[in-house]
This record gives sequence, structure tokens and C-alpha cells, in this order.
Amino acid sequence: MEIRPVRWENDVLVLIDQTQLPHRYAEVRYKDWRAVAEAIRQMVVRGAPAIGAAAACGLVLAAESIPEQEMPAFRHQWLAAADAFAATRPTAVNLFWAIERMKRALDACRSPEEARRRLRAESERILEEDIRANRAIGQHGQTLIPDGARILTHCNAGALATVGYGTALGVIRAAVEAGKKIQVYADETRPRLQGMQLTAWELVQEGIPVTVITDNMAGMLMRRGEIDVVVVGADRIAANGDVANKVGTYSVAVLARHHSIPFYVAAPISTVDLSVADGSGIPIEERSPEEVTHIAGHRVAPEGVRVINPAFDVTPAELVTAIVTEAGIARPPYTVSLAEMVQSTGEG
Ligand code: MRU
Repeated sequence: MEIRPVRWENDVLVLIDQTQLPHRYAEVRYKDWRAVAEAIRQMVVRGAPAIGAAAACGLVLAAESIPEQEMPAFRHQWLAAADAFAATRPTAVNLFWAIERMKRALDACRSPEEARRRLRAESERILEEDIRANRAIGQHGQTLIPDGARILTHCNAGALATVGYGTALGVIRAAVEAGKKIQVYADETRPRLQGMQLTAWELVQEGIPVTVITDNMAGMLMRRGEIDVVVVGADRIAANGDVANKVGTYSVAVLARHHSIPFYVAAPISTVDLSVADGSGIPIEERSPEEVTHIAGHRVAPEGVRVINPAFDVTPAELVTAIVTEAGIARPPYTVSLAEMVQSTGEG
């Protein structure tokens, strides 16, 4: 089964409801853009590229629901919808990248009718390009993976986190497609459990051997020599190569460095944000304390305890062995290699 978490079915946007996996595979159908914005907030759809793609499609639904015939009034309402999408989740830059692309498409239009058509076409391009980029990331990235590798990954940077195929899991898929024997260790990824519930589900679907570990087991496995490579995704990469990704990624990177294990980041160019010089400029989403204090709806923490719940952390560039994008493999110094890559893809 091809996993497609964000897709058009005629004029309906279909999302896989990722809050129900792995217990139930369910798709939700959207005609109302506000419901799409809420789906991003609630993590029905999540993962940096998938959030961007869903917002782009949501903005098509917004355009289709605005009745105005005159461009200024149409534009005014549409920009309010764009602002609403921009306010859903702050860290993954792909969201803002997709909104900017849709704004540029709108700017080229002279009538609401033309805008509806062009925005729709732009959203379709974003969906297609994402899968193509992920396959290219896979091709480049798999050259870094030795046959027989035992790969640790954190969170879910798979098909579910993108439009299809995945970034970190795209590298793993491509290595398997190249005939390499691969074993994956998936960090469960507290508090939302994307590793156990989504990464493990995806890999089980495809028969790629996967072992789930709790987040505190990675060090012990590395010390025993049972991890050869780490591959993770990213939510935003600063100009200097600092990488924001799911909270816990930084700890894995520190452990990997201590054990001399390569630490690779796989992400499309749309995740690179050259406007941010280093990781200190990346906004980190703080989510509800209930995600930490409750497990499966049951409170497991004592009442009255203070809780923090940052959804992401920043791994400094010095811990990142290489960054794999659709344009190739970037090596330090990233300030140079990333800027060159962004330019080569015309995104600069
Ligand atoms: O909070 P989430 O589930 O949206 O976080 C997802 C991640 O951190 C992924 O690793 C990242 O978005 C890369 S997805 C290709």
C-alpha cells in the first residue's frame, strides 16, 4: 500500500488521521479550510513537509469558499486564511514556505476565478514535487548506508510526515530498494509516540525489520555496538546547519558523537531556512502539558507538578555528519554547502 497522508480526491482534500494509527487506518475528507487548519493543530496531519502540503491544499479550499468577485476583497479574505494557517504550528518552516508559495501564485492572478485555478495547480505541484524530492533524498542518502546497517531513527520522518516516501525513512526505503539488508531501531518518541505508533507502523507495512525502543535505550545500544548509523528528519535547518527536529533528537546526536556513529539529517530544501542564522532563531513549539502528564487519556503524573513540553529541540551543526537533500549531500561547513544547494535549486 502506498502511504499518501495528504492527497486530493477531485475537490476534496483527504488526510490520513494520524492520531488513530496504528490501531485504525482512517481517512478524513475536508472541504472546509478551517477544519484543515484545526487538523494541523491537532496533529491529524503532522511532519514538516506534510504540514506544508496540507496548508497549501487548505488554502485552495479557502479560495474556493470565498464568494467575492472582486480581487481586493477576495485577496483580503484569502490572506486572513493564510494567517490562520501560519498560526497553527510555529517550528516547521515548510508550513511558511508553502504559504509563501501559494501567496506568490495568488499575486500572479487578476481575478478570483483565475486565483482558484492557479492555487489549485500550485498545490498539486507542491504535492508532486515533495514525493520527487523525497525519492531524490533517498537516492543520495542510501549511498551513506552500509549493507547490513542497523539504523536508529527518532520520531517519524516517513511517508506519513511528507506527501509520500519520507525523508529519513526515504533513505531507509531507498537502501532497502538497493538490496541492502537493513534493520531499524525506532525511538518511541515521547510524548506523542510518533516513533512507536507511526514509524513502526510504516515499516511493518513494508516488511522492513523494525525494533521499537524507549527513548532512554539508545545510549545503551550504542555502547553495545548495536547501532551503525543515525538518520533523522528536520523541521527547520538554519543557515549554519543547526537542525530543529523532534525533541530528543539532540540527545541522540550527543550520544552518536560520543560513540563515533555518523549522524545524518535528511530533509528537502524547503526545510532549509537561510533567513535564520543559527538554531537560536528557530521558534520552538510548546504544546499542552497534558501530552506529558497523560498516557492514553490517563493521568500518570501527580496533580500540581510543573511540566514543560517543548515539541522540538535544536541539534548544533557540529554534531551533524551530513545533511541529505534532494540536491545532494551537504557537508560542513554548512554555511557554504547549504547556501550553494539552496541556490542550485532556485529557492534562494
Ligand atoms: O510534531 P511532529 O510529529 O510534526 O514532528 C515531526 C518531526 O519532528 C519530524 O522528524 C520532522 O517533521 C521531519 S518529517 C519528514
